[in-house]
Amino acid sequence: MIEDHRILHGVHVVLRPLSTGDLRRCVKWFSDPQVTQFLGRAGPVTLAEEERWYHDYVRHGDEQIFAIEIDGRHVGNLGLHKVDRVHRKADLGIVIGETSYWSRGYGTDALETALRYGFDQLGLNKISLDVLEGNARAIRSYEKCGFVREGIHREDVFKDGRFLNVIRMSILVREFSDRRRPAA
Ligand SMILES: CC(C)(COP(=O)(O)OP(=O)(O)OC[C@H]1O[C@@H](n2cnc3c(N)ncnc32)[C@H](O)[C@@H]1OP(=O)(O)O)[C@@H](O)C(=O)NCCC(=O)NCCS
Repeated sequence: MIEDHRILHGVHVVLRPLSTGDLRRCVKWFSDPQVTQFLGRAGPVTLAEEERWYHDYVRHGDEQIFAIEIDGRHVGNLGLHKVDRVHRKADLGIVIGETSYWSRGYGTDALETALRYGFDQLGLNKISLDVLEGNARAIRSYEKCGFVREGIHREDVFKDGRFLNVIRMSILVREFSDRRRPAA
């Protein structure tokens, strides 16, 4: 069972556990082609599908999904998926669904906050993610946080009539610690 008392504070963002009351907003975002063009998943989704997904998520407990809030407004989600306590690794996913909040530094702030939580609180050694090759804004944001490219899954996603490459990126705890250490 996941704990529901985790509130993480970034510079501008607050990450808090996603709740059922948030799902209608998620349906809106995951049905918006402006948003879904950057995601591996196919849209749109229905509220019933989101509710089913949420029910499974709560039951499994190997992932933690946070709502990203800015000034009290829920603008996106960030998830740590496949949290593996043996190999001390997890996958990360992020979406800012309110497009007017893109490219204002909030995604990077949320990512840094989640990395701190994953490495410091969960004791992870490695956090990885997949990103569509053409998603330059996301890649830039990941690189700003210290993620490096591990490799490419060639033509891994079929989207809008085309096969797209997916880039695998990751960051290790020692790399994250080095970035935090003040320069001598
Ligand atoms: C990806 C996402 C989480 C990034 O969050 P964000 O708040 O928009 O990103 P940030 O503002 O923190 O950083 C984006 C960086 O990319 C830059 N950027 C924006 N558009 C760009 C583009 N087309 N090409 C290259 N860089 C771009 C920004 O200038 C900024 O870099 P800078 O700070 O050096 O100027 C958010 O845009 C989002 O949710 N997009 C839609 C869904 C998505 O792509 N999710 C990720 C799936 S892997």
